[in-house]
Amino acid sequence: MQKTTELYAGKAKSVYNTDHPDYLIMSFRNDTSAFDGEKIEQLERKGEVNNKFNHFIMQKLEAAGIPTQVESLLSDTESVVKRLEMIPVECVVRNISAGSLCRRLGVEEGLDLQPPTFELFLKNDALHDPMLNESLAITFGWATQPQLTKMRELTLTVNKVLSQLFDDAGMLLVDYKLEFGLFKGEIMLGDEFSPDGCRLWDKESREKLDKDRFRQGLGGVVEAYLDVASRLGIDMGPVERSS
Ligand code: TMP
Ligand code: ASP
Repeated sequence: MQKTTELYAGKAKSVYNTDHPDYLIMSFRNDTSAFDGEKIEQLERKGEVNNKFNHFIMQKLEAAGIPTQVESLLSDTESVVKRLEMIPVECVVRNISAGSLCRRLGVEEGLDLQPPTFELFLKNDALHDPMLNESLAITFGWATQPQLTKMRELTLTVNKVLSQLFDDAGMLLVDYKLEFGLFKGEIMLGDEFSPDGCRLWDKESREKLDKDRFRQGLGGVVEAYLDVASRLGIDMGPVERSS
């Protein structure tokens, strides 16, 4: 698979066209962003760690019957993915209160949320990803009702699979954000799943092991991501480049 032109550069990843119309190359950069791009730093090895992390998690989700865009690891920092038509609606599930939920509702951090909450946000940095509901998403044409129903169902299935996976490795999946897209009309999980887009706490100490370390200036960001990866048994060895 050969890279051709750059299709899109996000805050932490760049996406390239390839010589195959159905496939793209996703390149994970070291850029780390918070507060809708207000704070950006380069963290050494972060791109590589997230690329391998994402590949591992997406394989687990595929095995659980969730369609994802991921095809294969191409290099330490790149993966081959299906070309999706992205739906600009972010799906967030929370198992424990943290982040914007606490700010918005004035609740304390660390409450067990039963049942887990499900929220929609519009992917729009300039507007700071405003909260949406299904009615708004449908009226403005960002997603259809059947798509939203499927996205909710898949996002909650991901919660079951990943909460168990992290629990077995001594961690709590506090919350996470997923993005979906369409491949030949079928809804698939796109974007990435890495400690950049979820909250993970140590089960005993509740130490933060995710991007909140960066947002809150706690340091040891990539070290924490590597700790999570090692607890999950993710191979961080070099990827042999296939042609
Ligand atoms: P929040 O507490 O800021 O709403 O975020 C909830 C979770 O979703 C948290 O793990 C971070 C993730 N998230 C992103 O990664 N990007 C986003 O744009 C949003 C809205 C959330
Ligand atoms: N991913 C968003 C950003 O980079 C929001 C965040 O993670 O804080 O700004």
